[in-house]
Amino acid sequence: MGLRGQQGWDATYQKQFGAERWAKLRTALSERVNQVAVLNSFLSQRNYERAQRELDLVPSTIPLCYKKNKVEDSNSNVDNEEIRHPEEVQQDEWIRLMEEMGNIEKQEHAYWMDGASAVCALFLDVKPGHKVLDMCAAPGGKSLVLANKLFANLNNEVSSGSKEKKSVLVCNEYSKERYTKLGGVLKSFLPEKMFPSHIAGRTAGEGPFVYTTNQDASCQKGEVVFRNLAPEGYNRILIDAPCSSDRHLVHKNQLHSWSDKLYKENAERQLMLLTHASRLLKPGGVMVYSTCALAPAENDELIEKFLMKVAKTTPVEVVPFSVKEAVWLVEKGINPSEVIDAGKWGVLLLPDKSKYGPLYICKIRKKKKD
Ligand SMILES: C[S@@+](CC[C@H](N)C(=O)[O-])C[C@H]1O[C@@H](n2cnc3c(N)ncnc32)[C@H](O)[C@@H]1O
Repeated sequence: MGLRGQQGWDATYQKQFGAERWAKLRTALSERVNQVAVLNSFLSQRNYERAQRELDLVPSTIPLCYKKNKVEDSNSNVDNEEIRHPEEVQQDEWIRLMEEMGNIEKQEHAYWMDGASAVCALFLDVKPGHKVLDMCAAPGGKSLVLANKLFANLNNEVSSGSKEKKSVLVCNEYSKERYTKLGGVLKSFLPEKMFPSHIAGRTAGEGPFVYTTNQDASCQKGEVVFRNLAPEGYNRILIDAPCSSDRHLVHKNQLHSWSDKLYKENAERQLMLLTHASRLLKPGGVMVYSTCALAPAENDELIEKFLMKVAKTTPVEVVPFSVKEAVWLVEKGINPSEVIDAGKWGVLLLPDKSKYGPLYICKIRKKKKD
């Protein structure tokens, strides 16, 4: 019989991490998520600076991200009745801040997310001109980071008329409800001119730049839809896969529903997502696979399976997390290896060491043909 419930969960990860580490990690998993704010770079310079000032933010070690100037008492804001998922907490936090400061511009100013999520999206190394697919995008935090990088030269793109250089971001979500939420988040942060409904009167090469799609990305039909939006393939793909999400189970008091079957089922879907993504990548293109699961079956073991499966038909290679990315996670003077759990293929950012996560991140490049 398989392992189930809270006891099965504890036993599984105590075995994986060792009793001492698991005790620390388990405590960290139940604590408040350490969030950073991604400021909306599409604001006017004046409002960008004003938001930073009024929200009392200072730059964090992670590019594009800010943290609160004053560190709040870690217990003061914890909602003990129901500790919620990071995205839900950040939305409430945002509404509270907007109420306090008065809405100073139509576009929203800051999106709060786990620092590991921002690191994951930045690790994809998106550049203006790229065609980018965010396969599992709702509620949209990582999509916003990708958009901040991809459309850094938005005004030049619109005025230059150069068709080849047009950046495209496709944000996909399978759940209808979450797809609606995703659309709301994107529209409240990004300029209207980026969306398909605002292309009337424009010629083809002028956009739109941001598409939202409501596809099952693990099946062939989804692949066809994505291919139609970037017929020559994607330069970058983010697969932030649905997973067993251990921290979410802890915060939602749902550990009773845990079973080792859960991660086996997730792994099947994750493998399909990766396989479709690898076909959609251009040669030389890069994809980042991430989960917020602790189970190796959804992380390194899944990558291993994927590499064995696709290697026969598609040449791919894993790109290691380098010092450049690792320094985003540490204050000066700390050795990055102290905060990162490096696996065979990817890295695991865990809250007892890195302050952020859990998040497993692995980058894979499709090799160019010889
Ligand atoms: C970890 S969440 C994504 C979080 C998001 N990237 C962010 O940063 O806000 C995974 C998402 O994948 C969606 N999903 C599940 N199965 C899917 C599928 N087959 N195709 C596309 N999306 C799927 C889930 O509904 C969920 O919203």
